[in-house]
Amino acid sequence: METGLRGARVLVTASSQGIGFGIAGGFVDEGARVVMNSSDATRLENAVERLRSRGEVHGIVADLSRREDLDRLVDETIRRLGGLDTLVYVTGSPKPGVYLEQGYAEWESAARLLVVSPAYLARRVADEMLQNGTPGRMVFLTSVSVREPIPTIATSSVCRIAVAGLVRTLAREVGPRGIRVNGILPGWINTGRVDDMLKDAVRRRGITPDEARAEITRAIPLGRMGTVEEIARAAIFLGSDLSSYVSGTMLAVDGALLHSVG
Ligand SMILES: NC(=O)c1ccc[n+]([C@@H]2O[C@H](COP(=O)([O-])OP(=O)(O)OC[C@H]3O[C@@H](n4cnc5c(N)ncnc54)[C@H](OP(=O)(O)O)[C@@H]3O)[C@@H](O)[C@H]2O)c1
Repeated sequence: METGLRGARVLVTASSQGIGFGIAGGFVDEGARVVMNSSDATRLENAVERLRSRGEVHGIVADLSRREDLDRLVDETIRRLGGLDTLVYVTGSPKPGVYLEQGYAEWESAARLLVVSPAYLARRVADEMLQNGTPGRMVFLTSVSVREPIPTIATSSVCRIAVAGLVRTLAREVGPRGIRVNGILPGWINTGRVDDMLKDAVRRRGITPDEARAEITRAIPLGRMGTVEEIARAAIFLGSDLSSYVSGTMLAVDGALLHSVG
């Protein structure tokens, strides 16, 4: 099936590794012109180099938790691509930890990274799309913790819910002007982030990383963690005209991990 993404101008944030990197690669393979981003110049440059032979790809270093970096990221993306058709917003992760371990500083930095950052970036991107009459698409990666909180990542479980509110609110406001806004709720996806969470389980509960991984896998009805390519396919669907009548939705890509209905 044709995605229609050849030549599309796409920004994928937090894409030097893991889910963001997989999504950036997926869009490049569809012929899109892609800007990748991360907060670390060396890691980003390596990531850009890995994709360069597959298509047009640029790298812009910006810390998603800093307002001036967000402004520069949008301005520089538009300068390099000549506009923006699709934003795929991925971000970093706050430190793992249960609720009673979190203090003011942890809440403040988690809120800046998981709430203020996507809301502000979306505003800047929406302004740009509206000004140019672009029938754009925005896709926000969050987590299944939006539906069922994960106790060992308390700040994430609280703050990510705001992204579901952002998706619904913005989709209603900009839908009449031709812009679609959706979200993805990844379950367990095999990346370095999961390794960090397994280490946290080892520290907290005195079990081995293999035991922690097996325990997680047993809870997933499809019997395994997902891959970044599987998230990329969902992002391509929502970030292209393949999903032309889908807006304001949060798509779980979780191997049936979630128990809740809706
Ligand atoms: N893996 C999972 O099972 C899973 C499930 C649900 C949700 N998630 C969420 O999905 C997101 C990506 O997860 P992942 O597993 O791909 O993690 P990952 O492998 O650790 O990758 C995180 C990416 O975020 C970038 N990043 C971190 N802080 C940043 C900042 N302040 N500004 C710009 N870029 C930043 C990192 O690049 P630099 O270090 O180079 O800046 C890296 O490219 C995270 O928010 C994670 O919590 C993951």
